[in-house]
Amino acid sequence: MNGNDISWRPYQKCHSDEQSDEESGVGASASLRIAPLPQTLRSAQGDMLSLDFLGKAYLEHNAVSDSERDKLNMQPKMIKDVFGRMLKDLRISVTDRCNFRCPYCMPAEIYGERYQFLPRQEILTFEEIARLVRIFVRLGTEKIRLTGGEPLVRSGVEQLIGMLSTIEGIEDLTLTTNGYLLQQKAQALKDAGLQRITVSLDSLDDEVFGQMNGRGYGVKKVLDAIEEARRVWLHPIKLNTVVQKGVNDQTVLDLLRHFKGTDVIVRFIEFMDVGNINGWKLDQVVPSAELVRYINAEMPLEPVDKNYRGEVADRYRYLDGSGEIGFISSVTEAFCSDCTRARLSTDGKLFTCLFAGDGRDLRGPMRAGASDEELEALITDVWTQRMDRYSEIRASLTEPPKRKVEMYQIGG
Ligand SMILES: C[S@@+](CC[C@H](N)C(=O)[O-])C[C@H]1O[C@@H](n2cnc3c(N)ncnc32)[C@H](O)[C@@H]1O
Ligand code: SF4
Repeated sequence: MNGNDISWRPYQKCHSDEQSDEESGVGASASLRIAPLPQTLRSAQGDMLSLDFLGKAYLEHNAVSDSERDKLNMQPKMIKDVFGRMLKDLRISVTDRCNFRCPYCMPAEIYGERYQFLPRQEILTFEEIARLVRIFVRLGTEKIRLTGGEPLVRSGVEQLIGMLSTIEGIEDLTLTTNGYLLQQKAQALKDAGLQRITVSLDSLDDEVFGQMNGRGYGVKKVLDAIEEARRVWLHPIKLNTVVQKGVNDQTVLDLLRHFKGTDVIVRFIEFMDVGNINGWKLDQVVPSAELVRYINAEMPLEPVDKNYRGEVADRYRYLDGSGEIGFISSVTEAFCSDCTRARLSTDGKLFTCLFAGDGRDLRGPMRAGASDEELEALITDVWTQRMDRYSEIRASLTEPPKRKVEMYQIGG
């Protein structure tokens, strides 16, 4: 593993991604005509069958054009960027506010009492978010993650989850939280249709945790919340732990011991240079390879294959069979070439990279009356021109980008 070792490899199709141009709707010939419906597709009584059924039957029996396929609304378009990466995941920052002040994300000196967060009218409404999500799903998005800021400080976030959970085509609906408000919300989130949850927890040591959440809060509330999330079966529960050298690296073994043998999957994240204000320095990053060696010496591990292509964490399991842990190495082992994630900021901008400077405004056109088709064209335009791969070229940049969006604005 070497952060300076930049080896961009173009996106290669793997078996699970296999999809013909025709299936993807790309290049489907508009000149092909739909054949008349075969008699066998009428019911025994001669009645016409349901539109849904007929749609499937048409697709099975005919090559259809993009617009005809759209009308039938049967298949997502599976758009791809310049490197062939599909748009499979959408992370939505539902608020730019947070009840923590983690120094690596929203340092208290900057985000003090006088800091002006977005006024209400600039924040996407739940209806606007749900509308955009439906359009993303038509373009191939299957996974939705609500994040922030702290998503649980947005009032009624479970209503949004309820709205999203009815959208057909979403296979994974999840949320990332610091856990502080989770205990009282877990049941409502589950009832609304949230499938699983990721909780961030950097240390079990109250003092270290208090320093890393910037508020001096203790660990107990988050641990109780995790128990409640297990009870209501927001499963599997993943735990995000940012590791900062000299801050919490001495506490990682304790954290692992606590969750070893449970179904909670701890994932260590390398401290990243997101945004402009967290004072990031490369020497504060603990490379995942070093962390794996360190943990392995105490609790023997073996690597496990990824669950799917593009999974951000490298997976390991304990040799004694007591569970799984993960490592997210966006600094030392960039995974841009498999990145299928888009991000929607609290104020409705579409970002295609965590390290981007600016995004494309969707809220403006939406509020000015753009149709779904026009919004879909906008998103398609952004995605098909996408060629970012910041983490892979970070080390070769002579100077860092002048301005990057902050993580809490677009969601981690
Ligand atoms: C921005 S937070 C938003 C959701 C929620 N407030 C939380 O903390 O889980 C999403 C994830 O990003 C991680 N994160 C924030 N800043 C980071 C940084 N500089 N490097 C690595 N991870 C970071 C957090 O630890 C968290 O797991
Ligand atoms: S990482 Fe999450 S909890 Fe911490 S300040 Fe950022 S948004 Fe808040």
